Amino acid sequence: MASLPRVTIRVGVIGTGNMGADHANTLHRYVRGATVTVVMDAQAQRAATVAEAIPGARVARSEAALIDADDVDAVIITSPDPSHAGLTMSAVRAGKPVMCEKPLAQSVDECLRVVKTEDGFVGAGSNRLVSVGFMRRFDPGYTQMKASIEARENGAPLLLHCTSRGVSAGAGTTSEMSIKGSAVHEFDIVPWLLGDPIADVSWYTPRPPGHPDGLADPQVMLLRTAGGTLATVETFMGAGYGYDINCELVSERGALALAYRPAVLGNAGGQRFTTHPLDWRARFADAYRLELQAWVDALISGSPPPLATARDGMQATAVAEAAVAAMNGGGGPVVVKPVG
Ligand SMILES: NC(=O)c1ccc[n+]([C@@H]2O[C@H](COP(=O)([O-])OP(=O)(O)OC[C@H]3O[C@@H](n4cnc5c(N)ncnc54)[C@H](O)[C@@H]3O)[C@@H](O)[C@H]2O)c1
Repeated sequence: MASLPRVTIRVGVIGTGNMGADHANTLHRYVRGATVTVVMDAQAQRAATVAEAIPGARVARSEAALIDADDVDAVIITSPDPSHAGLTMSAVRAGKPVMCEKPLAQSVDECLRVVKTEDGFVGAGSNRLVSVGFMRRFDPGYTQMKASIEARENGAPLLLHCTSRGVSAGAGTTSEMSIKGSAVHEFDIVPWLLGDPIADVSWYTPRPPGHPDGLADPQVMLLRTAGGTLATVETFMGAGYGYDINCELVSERGALALAYRPAVLGNAGGQRFTTHPLDWRARFADAYRLELQAWVDALISGSPPPLATARDGMQATAVAEAAVAAMNGGGGPVVVKPVG
């Protein structure tokens, strides 16, 4: 039997902090058909540390040098949020597929510039170049929940309860950053699960902001979809006890929730216990791996990547802007502006 042609996608990673180092490691160790060839970080030592762990990988001296490199076929952007839009547009102009971590950009206007840049570059019938790292779309729990909704296993969906808790908010985190950088995951996953866009958002916090910089934490948002389903969203960055993501779907004839899947079950001191991961890397390891594998498979086969698109990223940011407007306007419902 003739052997199939072997294609390897050579990936460059911009920003090798927590997420970038994790994606580089996942690509290197667990994803078929990809190799990490070039890495770059504003702190060169961080890039060097990642490159040393991956045979054949080298460090680029700048973002542009990585994007334009002959040994880079596709780009991953894991630098801080404000850099996403500019770097994504640079990759598009270089004609290279790009997987940008969420959020795509800081505002709908900035997202629109990315969308227009992509529209202008990609011809009719060609695949999109931009994918956005909303990895929950690949988490086995969320995908099973979506399949159940689509099959109407328990009738029509009525409610979603989404909670997202972290150990502590990073220094300098503001209420707006919590919405645009963290709650934005829910603004993508809720309409994706329901197949129903978010129509309006209201915002609450249980007590006056207690942090010195005025961070409201936790924040609770109520999302209403165009079809009338309601979603409660709790974003609690400083919950203290661990990284803990939950989602419960309540439908006409039953309820379905993400199962907690601890790696071990402890028994000691008269107690049975499990532990929480400290951040997203362990909790969503399967999702990141499946997301990157799907991206690489699509690039190899020439099919559209099944990840969130630039327009999906813009839609999530439109919901985030409505949530910020609700927060700044006293909490009452704010209609999500339609985006092009
Ligand atoms: N999808 C998810 O679940 C998820 C989880 C965490 C973080 N993220 C996103 O990933 C991105 C990185 O987050 P992180 O937690 O790894 O942050 P981090 O601070 O650990 O890493 C960011 C890295 O980027 C470098 N950097 C800064 N500006 C740069 C530039 N212009 N070019 C190249 N490198 C630059 C920094 O030196 C740092 O090493 C953020 O956009 C964040 O929102 C996504």
